[in-house]
Amino acid sequence: MHAVVTGGASGIGEATARLLSRNGAHVTLIDVNGKRGARIAGEINADGGKAAFHQLDVSNEKDLLALAAALFAERPVDVLVNSAGILQNAVRLNDMDLGEFDRIIDVNLKGTVLVCRAFGSRMCAAGAGSIVNLCSLTSLTPSPQLAYGMSKAAVKMLTESLAAELGPSNVRVNAVAPGYTLTPAMQQRIDEGARNPAKMIEAAALRRLVSMEDVAEAINFLSSDKASAITGVVIPVDCGFLVGSAYNAYAAQP
Ligand SMILES: NC(=O)c1ccc[n+]([C@@H]2O[C@H](COP(=O)([O-])OP(=O)(O)OC[C@H]3O[C@@H](n4cnc5c(N)ncnc54)[C@H](O)[C@@H]3O)[C@@H](O)[C@H]2O)c1
Repeated sequence: MHAVVTGGASGIGEATARLLSRNGAHVTLIDVNGKRGARIAGEINADGGKAAFHQLDVSNEKDLLALAAALFAERPVDVLVNSAGILQNAVRLNDMDLGEFDRIIDVNLKGTVLVCRAFGSRMCAAGAGSIVNLCSLTSLTPSPQLAYGMSKAAVKMLTESLAAELGPSNVRVNAVAPGYTLTPAMQQRIDEGARNPAKMIEAAALRRLVSMEDVAEAINFLSSDKASAITGVVIPVDCGFLVGSAYNAYAAQP
């Protein structure tokens, strides 16, 4: 099995690349962070896995098309995980920096579209494949991360539309919607005071943050043959955040 993981140098992408490798996959990591990507691929190889790293910005279609052609010439890509993404802090519409808005849409939405275009068409030609996108709670419910939420809601629609388009070619397209997940990106925001871990934990029914490994396990399932009849779904991996808001609004709870 050959799996390509964008954003594989950190967080959920890194945990997923490590898990897929432990399960026997050749993994190709794609990331803008060259130093960290090379280190993670080196560590996977040192652990007995087979990993390669390519430094690339997912918003650059030319580079993506060239890489997809080169990778498929070596061996087909069976699994594609789109984890490259950037988070955002809470902001009101009129205070939002439009440069940040453009960058978030470029990476989170257009980047996912471009990677799906580059690899999905070749998966269809090969007659098999599984794509897992990274949605978010903000794909399903509003948050003050305005650009981020819009990008992730659009990735949900992309996932569902592509599942319908690529299904007849035996290519499945699903997504996970992680809750608050303790990744380097999230830790940085906690350290800066932009996220309150106590509030995030209190809002989750299971009263804990999601781990990177929790999300990696769900991605591993969706990408595997065990999910061979599942396409077009977005699975929350949120420690029960979504079930809480209406329930917790009652004055008295059992
Ligand atoms: N952490 C959370 O709570 C959370 C919750 C829901 C969804 N997500 C999503 O999960 C994904 C991973 O997030 P994370 O928290 O692990 O973040 P992270 O910062 O730890 O990892 C993201 C990786 O993507 C890479 N990246 C960023 N822009 C890129 C680009 N243009 N091209 C290639 N690589 C790029 C970064 O260098 C980094 O290595 C993102 O799509 C994020 O939106 C995260």
